[in-house]
Amino acid sequence: MNTRVFGFSRAVLRWYRVHGRHGLPWQRDRDPYRIWVSEIMLQQTQVVTVIPYYERFILRFPDIARLARAPIDAVLDHWTGLGYYARARNLHQAARLIQHDHGGVFPDTFEAVIALPGIGRSSAGAILSFAYHRRHPVLDGNVRRVLARYFAIEGDPGQIATQEALWDRVSAVLPKTGVRAADFNQAMMDLGALLCTRARPRCAKCPLARGCEGYASGAPERLPLRRPRRARPARQLTMLILVDPAGRVLLERRPAKGIWGGLWSFPECPMDVDPKARCREVFGVASRPLAPLPPIRHGFTHFTLTIHPQLLRISRSAGARIGGDSLDWIAPGVAPRRGLATPVKRLLKQLDSVL
Ligand code: ADE
Repeated sequence: MNTRVFGFSRAVLRWYRVHGRHGLPWQRDRDPYRIWVSEIMLQQTQVVTVIPYYERFILRFPDIARLARAPIDAVLDHWTGLGYYARARNLHQAARLIQHDHGGVFPDTFEAVIALPGIGRSSAGAILSFAYHRRHPVLDGNVRRVLARYFAIEGDPGQIATQEALWDRVSAVLPKTGVRAADFNQAMMDLGALLCTRARPRCAKCPLARGCEGYASGAPERLPLRRPRRARPARQLTMLILVDPAGRVLLERRPAKGIWGGLWSFPECPMDVDPKARCREVFGVASRPLAPLPPIRHGFTHFTLTIHPQLLRISRSAGARIGGDSLDWIAPGVAPRRGLATPVKRLLKQLDSVL
């Protein structure tokens, strides 16, 4: 590597000591379990959003054994609103694997850690370096941005070759000791989040400005190249809110695969199907439609969803005939203590005031 590699980590570490994020809830000690939970939450979510979820999660599931023993519904309940629910299911499954295969102790080798569900190369590096001071690099979105700008890496970020080039660079600038590597990893993520931001990076404050090709070019925000964005398709559906005479509503558990996998939601109905007919077809009962609630929009990574909530009154005897493992009647005002799709949580709140 060239001369710009020399001094890179020193500049980053010096900046980090003064300006980095210290004292975050998962930085209080080096408990691998807590660090693991935080890294999974931070995979697709920003620090400020993660903090309250992390605190609640750790209170309820303070160690691997407690997480492994918990029912998946309790885990998903604590994830409601964070999104990307596969993360919660993988975390839970991995806790059970650790109990079973590793005697309840979080593993400390790269091979064993990356073999756990939900942990890729970057998260494995983060956990091993923060918890055990093992010398492994991290390459998340923030770090990628810093490196792509500093070294002017032009490739398509979706290509393996570009990713390999970035891994090579980060490995080359990683400090030689595990302790310093841990600080360096956190420092790079902080630098990416606080200074080397996607839009309007604060280069005047950046310890890497000298030697940064992006800065020298006068247009650092041009890199990394963005993958061409496709317009998000818009989907619509009706949610059937069956209401019994006691004011309870029917929830159904969604299949493990697909959106809101494993979470509880209202039964769905395609837009071109009459809700009353659907209710009869799926549940075999008659119903009386009430005025629909206002539509709710929800954004996913790949599409936007507009939900049309349709209330359907049913009789006591009809309600008694509806049941099963994946169906449950609940009172909207009582916390259901299970994973709910975010719009469903909102709808339950509204229903509590109208029913
Ligand atoms: N993103 C992933 N891991 C992180 C961490 N430890 N700190 C800040 N952002 C992160």
